[in-house]
This record gives sequence, C-alpha cells and structure tokens, in this order.
Amino acid sequence: MAEIEVLDKKIELNPIILEVGQVAQALKLETYIVGGYVRDIVLDRPSKDIDFVCVGSGIKLAQAVKEHLGTEAKLAVYKNFGTAAITYKEFELEFVGARKESYRSDSRKPIVENGTLEDDQNRRDFTINALAISLNKDDFGALIDPFGGVEHLAQKQIITPLDPEVTFSDDPLRIMRAIRFASQLNFDIEAKTFDAIITQKERIKIISQERITDELNKIILSPVPSYGFKLLFTSGLLQIIFPEMAKLHGVKRINGKGHKDNFYHTLQVLDNICQDTDDLWLRWSAILHDIAKPATQRFHEQAGWTFHGHEDLGAKWTPKIFKRMKLPLNEKMKYVQKLVKLHLRPIALVNEKVTDSAIRRLLYEAGDDIDDLMTLCRADITSKNMDKVRKYLANFKKVERKIKEVEERDHVRNFQPPISGEEIMVFFGIEPSREVGEIKNVIKEAILEGTIHNNREEAHQLMVDTGKKLGLTPVNS
Ligand code: CTP
Repeated sequence: MAEIEVLDKKIELNPIILEVGQVAQALKLETYIVGGYVRDIVLDRPSKDIDFVCVGSGIKLAQAVKEHLGTEAKLAVYKNFGTAAITYKEFELEFVGARKESYRSDSRKPIVENGTLEDDQNRRDFTINALAISLNKDDFGALIDPFGGVEHLAQKQIITPLDPEVTFSDDPLRIMRAIRFASQLNFDIEAKTFDAIITQKERIKIISQERITDELNKIILSPVPSYGFKLLFTSGLLQIIFPEMAKLHGVKRINGKGHKDNFYHTLQVLDNICQDTDDLWLRWSAILHDIAKPATQRFHEQAGWTFHGHEDLGAKWTPKIFKRMKLPLNEKMKYVQKLVKLHLRPIALVNEKVTDSAIRRLLYEAGDDIDDLMTLCRADITSKNMDKVRKYLANFKKVERKIKEVEERDHVRNFQPPISGEEIMVFFGIEPSREVGEIKNVIKEAILEGTIHNNREEAHQLMVDTGKKLGLTPVNS
C-alpha cells in the first residue's frame, strides 16, 4: 500500500494504481497519474476514472496492463487519438502518451507531437487539473505540480497554467469548464482567467452543442447552480448559449411600478429545488418555469405588470429549447414541458377556495408527476416577506393534504376511463366515430367535475343517457 502526503494529508493510492505502476516499471516507461483524478484525491472526492500519462506510447502501456489484469479487463484502443482505455471492475483507466499540442484558430483539433511530462502539463486546462503523481521507481508517489495547483486547490481558485487567452483560445470548451468547476467545487475564478473568459467567449461557437450542454448540465447538477449561472451571465456567455434565460434579467419600470427580476427569481427557485432533488429534469423545469415571462409581459395602469399565459408559451418553447440544446426530445422533455405548463396551478389552488373538482383536474393532468409539480411550486415561493411565505406554505400544506384525500377516494391520478371506447361501440353497435369520443369525454368530464363517481355503474348509466341524447340506441333494446 503506498501512501503519499499532500497538503499535510496522507493519501492512500488505490492498489490498481500500484499495479499499473509495476507494469510501467517493467516496461521502463516513465508513467504518472494525472489530471482530474489527482485533483480529486487531493480534494477527497474519490473517483473511479483514472488517467495515466506516460512518456512514450500510451497504447503500448495499456496493452501490457490489460495482459497483466487478465480477462476481467476490457481494452479499447483509439489509434487515431493515440489513446487507450481499460474497463476493469468499477474502474475506467485511460492511457495516453505525453503530448505537446498546438491549435489552429478555426478548430479544436490540435496538431499533436510526442512530448515530455512538462509539455503535457502545459497543455492542460487549469493548474488544479495539471497535477501529476509519479509511478516511477526513483520518485514513486512524488507530486509534480509545476503551476501551484495544490496551492490553488487550498485557495479555491480556478487559474489556467499558461496565459488564459492562450488556454481558452486553444480549446474554448474550457471556458465552460472553468465555470463548471467553479460551480461544482465552489471555487473562485481568478481575475485574469475570468477576463479571458470575457474576451474569448465568442469562440464557444466552434464547440459542438452536445459538449456545451454537457457542461451546462454539470453546472445545473452542482450544489448551488445559481453561482455557475451568475458567472455565465456576468461573463456574457449565457447570452450566447442560452439567450432566453439571459432575457429574464432586468426590471422594467413604468409609472414607478416595477416587477421582480425574473433571472434572479429563477435562480432562487433553482437553488431552492436543489435542496429537494438531484434530478436533472426537475431542475430543468425550475430553469424553464418562467422562461416566457419577458415575452408575455404587459403593463396595465390598474393591475401593474402581468405575464398572462407565460406558462403555456413556456411549455410551447420547451421542445424548441431542448432541440437547440441537443437535450433529449423524449419523455424527459415532455415531463419538463408538463411541469412548466402546470406550474401555476397548485398556487392558484392555494389562493382560491379549493374545490374537489379543481384538485381532480390537476391530478388528472399531472398524473404521476404531481409530487414533482408540488416540489416545483414550493420552490417557487421566493417572497422576501417571511409572513407571506409562512402563510403560503401553510396553505400549501392544506392543498397537499386535500390532494392526498381526493386521490385516495377518486383515483384520478392515472385516470383510466371506467368504460372503454370498445365497450361503447359494442353497446350501441357502432363503428369508431365522433360519437364514441364524445361519450368518453362526457364520462371523463363528469368524473372530474364530480357529477358522477369514478365507477363502472355510474359511468355506464351516463353512457346510456348520453347515447340517447346523440340519437343512438343500444343493440339489446
Ligand atoms: N483537459 C483539458 N482540457 C479539456 C478537457 C480536459 O486540459 N478541454 C484535461 C484536464 O487536465 C483534465 C483531464 O484532461 O483534468 C481529464 O479531463 P476530463 O476527464 O474531461 O475532466 P476531469 O478533470 O477528470 O473532471 P470531470 O471528471 O469532473 O469531468
């Protein structure tokens, strides 16, 4: 078992690292663990993804490690990139030869040459990601930290190893990564590094949307994502990658009347919801819940500012935003869309006298997502007036109790019509037609309104009566 000491802390290296070290020593290949894995062991965030860099062929080292580990290890070689990966037990081991890279201005594709460890560390994104630990005989366990990465970890600073203009221009994805690491780790971005983000931000346009969205999702999944979003906004990056969200920023005033700043409100809702859920899509619903407020904003002399229909317009925009962001256009999008559309409904129930039929309608529309909708609504209570908040939350509890009560009695959460279309057709001896749909709808509406109970007998009687009104006669009459 090898122990190393960093920041007066003893860190035990995982046995798998020792095994790779032995293989490398037998091959006489100078080898190091490097990058995010080293950062994370110093930060006590143990990870299963380990990057190895050797001065020579990473592929050769990976092949020898695979031989050593046996059939349980699965090797993938990426000849074009000169890299290889091994999946072994719970680990992802990546192997690369040390490289020297230079970039052209129009592409992220670098011109790559073999290099030394120092060259390899030079080309990395941040000082905290440029740490290496030697696996070589002479200095096994030594930390090689040419840019003060350990100190920056202690100071909680994101700093590029080279001139930040160069580091970001070489690979503009790093602009997003800087903000993502700041948000994930609760670090500051050092002033010169942040200035370079501002000057280089337009270059984000050469990065694929998938990679940008990947980083954005990591910001959204960080503990306090408002921090990442504020950095995105102040750097001007949000305006490029997510203009709809940037437009939430600001307060218009007419006749001395303003409204709340929807950007900061949204961020507070997002931070609130993060206390209750790690689910990316529920967090996305917080981001999008008021997205159409600027587009629906109107001023009325009497009522002041209104945002009528922002929930419907926001729901309409959701697939467009997902498509552009290359987020999945599947049931996840539909889920977010539904929550955006319904986000005002529970609050409306708090304000009004709560009727059973309003609750049944909400349950019918929200289905299994009712609990998530309530979580979103609770997060949406951001008033600074604590008395108001307390009153809202108390009323909200009442609505939640009522929802539970109505659902237990009426079972409309996963509404299945008590009489099927097939049964209606057989009963009246008719083909699929408008009448079948109408009878089904009358039954559903009657159940939601509470004029009949959700059972077969009452639904059957209503079918007979509605059919009669439509001029239909039962087959067996
Ligand atoms: N790296 C870089 N520039 C990039 C991406 C990665 O310099 N655009 C380097 C960094 O040294 C980084 C290492 O490659 O530490 C591994 O990258 P990756 O696995 O993407 O990130 P991690 O730092 O490991 O962090 P995470 O696993 O949280 O993404």
